[in-house]
Amino acid sequence: DKGTYPFYMLKEVDEQPNVMRKLAQTYLSEHGVPQIDDKLIKAMEAADRLYIVGAGTSYHAGLVGKRLFEKLAHIPTEVHVSSEFAYEQPMLSEKPFFIFLTQSGETADSREVLVNVNDAGYPSLTITNVQNSTLSREATYTLLLHAGPEIAVASTKAYTAQIALEAILAKALGEVTGQIVAQDFNIRQQLGLVATGMQAIVDEKDTLEKIANDYLMQSNRAFYIGRGIDHAVSLEAALKLKEISYVQAEGFASGELKHGTIALIEKDTPVIGFITQAKTAGLTRSNLQETMARGAKTLTIVREGLAIDGDDLILPDVDEMLMPLLSVVPAQLLAYYTSLNKGLDVDKPRNLAKSVTVE
Ligand code: F6R
Repeated sequence: DKGTYPFYMLKEVDEQPNVMRKLAQTYLSEHGVPQIDDKLIKAMEAADRLYIVGAGTSYHAGLVGKRLFEKLAHIPTEVHVSSEFAYEQPMLSEKPFFIFLTQSGETADSREVLVNVNDAGYPSLTITNVQNSTLSREATYTLLLHAGPEIAVASTKAYTAQIALEAILAKALGEVTGQIVAQDFNIRQQLGLVATGMQAIVDEKDTLEKIANDYLMQSNRAFYIGRGIDHAVSLEAALKLKEISYVQAEGFASGELKHGTIALIEKDTPVIGFITQAKTAGLTRSNLQETMARGAKTLTIVREGLAIDGDDLILPDVDEMLMPLLSVVPAQLLAYYTSLNKGLDVDKPRNLAKSVTVE
């Protein structure tokens, strides 16, 4: 039931702070110690490489997960689009471990990969929102997202839940393998800050609606740019905008723009930059300048600690690794308001179904 909400998507965006708290309660002890099945951790510990497989938004959550597993657990991690992996399997390491990210647990493209993984006898984990779903039943292990049903076609809370759970799992694995970064990472406190930060962002709906009207309603295309983990979020931000508002949007590695795509920038093209990582903040800022010099209408979404005068949207500070959990929220809301104010059916965009059960 969507209660007083006009669309499920807005309700689901608003539920994200609680989903973060729920995941912390479910998977962390009072002292912040991850409570993850020992057998699962042992199986992951035995692996020499992780392969994350997913489609669409779940693939995007995997791109963030790669950073978390490599940083916290120090294990090489690859991320693959399931429909590609299924028919062009990359060379595998000696002891691969597979992680399937799938909100519905029913995506045919991802299942096709799991069938092959099972045939080859490799261990796997499905991270899903739906208990007893096909991919949950068929994988060796399952972790549930506990995000509550996601009804809107555009995935929101499942994305942030997947990232938070990947962080918990990476912390658990890193602790077992003795990684100091993992030991020092106070995930319970961080997820608490994330929940509070998300709340602050969803409380700024009026500002985001205004930005959607000023920046996105007038254009039939837009760019989201960033580097590293900010690039991963820019892909998800662009997908949200495309699928519900039909604006042609691209998520782009900001440094790559000038190698060709900047030719598309003309007067008033919206270019939105994510700046949440200290190492690349200056670089993304100059890439934004380059587009501005060609007439782009730029907007910055910046972590507080990196903000300068004139920045547009300031995000509360959490550990840089977890910034995607916050930076995606304004992008979800920008997509929402663009769709809403165009009079579109936000929850049921054309040509799309909630779960894609054909390849
Ligand atoms: C986009 C969206 C899709 C799904 C994709 C995979 O908002 O929802 O891109 O993420 O179809 O679905 P699941 O996660 O159910 O495997």
